[in-house]
Amino acid sequence: MTSASLPPAHASLPPRVVVTGAHGQLGRALLRLSPDAHGFGRDELDITDADAVRGIVNPGDVLVNCAAYTAVDQAEREVDAAFAVNATGPAVLAAACAAAGARLIHVSTDYVFPGNASKPYEPEDPTGPATVYGRSKLAGEQAVLECAPDAHIVRTAWVYTGRGGDFVATMRRLERERDTVNVVNDQIGSPTYAVDLAAGLLELAGKPGAPRILHATNAGQASWFDLARAVFTGIGADPERVRPCGTDEFPRPAPRPAYSVLSGKSWAAAGLTPLRSWEPALNDALAAVTD
Ligand SMILES: NC(=O)c1ccc[n+]([C@@H]2O[C@H](COP(=O)([O-])OP(=O)(O)OC[C@H]3O[C@@H](n4cnc5c(N)ncnc54)[C@H](OP(=O)(O)O)[C@@H]3O)[C@@H](O)[C@H]2O)c1
Repeated sequence: MTSASLPPAHASLPPRVVVTGAHGQLGRALLRLSPDAHGFGRDELDITDADAVRGIVNPGDVLVNCAAYTAVDQAEREVDAAFAVNATGPAVLAAACAAAGARLIHVSTDYVFPGNASKPYEPEDPTGPATVYGRSKLAGEQAVLECAPDAHIVRTAWVYTGRGGDFVATMRRLERERDTVNVVNDQIGSPTYAVDLAAGLLELAGKPGAPRILHATNAGQASWFDLARAVFTGIGADPERVRPCGTDEFPRPAPRPAYSVLSGKSWAAAGLTPLRSWEPALNDALAAVTD
């Protein structure tokens, strides 16, 4: 074999995993599971800065983009800011990955769908976001699909770690602070433990032939009320202290989907390990938080 016909030096090496948005809840989970990955928080890499992004992408890398503008209500009035991070940012990453010969895994959301389905959404179902956040994330998906032929979009939903200010952490706090808590019972989705999602994304990092759009959530479905009750049960509190209420009692600037369960069929069909049911995942999350 002459040197001209040798494969590129990176071809036989395991991919270097690069994580953007590394200080967010999913980014942190990825780096805990994969300590050899190279993580860039927002202070180290702004994904909308094309020169900076080109400077960190190498041939053969798998770049998992966890950076996003995730303040769903705030996005209704900060439209430009939401589109900069959720649409321009992924476009910049996709162009840099395509140019360098790296593979992009871009994380997206159930909010790209209208959220009024009666059965789980499949990747090819028509999109139709009802919020600025959802529209900005859909624009990011489209940019990634156009700019990077090897990229994957992984839509997920209701992500939590049980720490910080996410829903599970909030229920743990409210259990300490209040006798009863009212939680909406008419929004159905797929609660997803960030650690399980991170493990799935790392498995996908080693499967370049997987379909371009995939859904990854813990299996099963729940209302926020169901999830809150499960949190109370999991921490040894009386679940009857969680009371059901309707969405109309908690008006928000951005409408919330009534039903946005994501089907896991495409994930399993791609030969990827199905994420377990949301209940045992929640119990592991609760066991892992000590504060
Ligand atoms: N959380 C959910 O329930 C949920 C549901 C469906 C889909 N997702 C998707 O899952 C992915 C991860 O979400 P997450 O829950 O981990 O969100 P997160 O905790 O809000 O993390 C997002 C991270 O992105 C960073 N970021 C914002 N703008 C950036 C920029 N221009 N350059 C680089 N980093 C930037 C943020 O930094 P700052 O904090 O400093 O702004 C934050 O650390 C996102 O794509 C999100 O859309 C999340």
